[in-house]
Amino acid sequence: MKIAVINGPNINMLGIREKNIYGSGTYDALLEKISAYCEEKDVDVDFFQSNHEGAIVDYIQSLYEKADGIVINPAAYTHTSVAVADALKAVSIPYVEVHISDVNKREPFRQISYVSAAALKKIAGKGFDGYLEAIDILIRNDEK
Ligand code: DQA
Repeated sequence: MKIAVINGPNINMLGIREKNIYGSGTYDALLEKISAYCEEKDVDVDFFQSNHEGAIVDYIQSLYEKADGIVINPAAYTHTSVAVADALKAVSIPYVEVHISDVNKREPFRQISYVSAAALKKIAGKGFDGYLEAIDILIRNDEK
């Protein structure tokens, strides 16, 4: 099984940005944690992070007929991007939406998500573990 893990703008700043909200773990630490988990579960994983909306759309399109599942934290684009939501629907790859912080308990604008409607699940507020939970959901979905 092949899974792509996509992170949006400022996720590369983990460990530096708003540690009280996102914790002190770095982006590299996040990738190491996910890689180790995928190895354990025999999942082939690819990572992509960009601060640019169009680059995220291009990457999602490149996954067409190539990935069995997507874990996506679109970060700020969650709340603004019809283009990212449309790209996810266009490729018809099952995906799980992840947020490190509990967006449901933050500012009202963070409670809007353009990608939730077509997601298998939205996971928020579980820190880095949310990504592992998302991988489990995609594995279970693939076994159906
Ligand atoms: C985030 C929440 C978003 O509102 C924010 O813009 C982010 C990260 C999260 O992982 O909690 O950059 O997606």
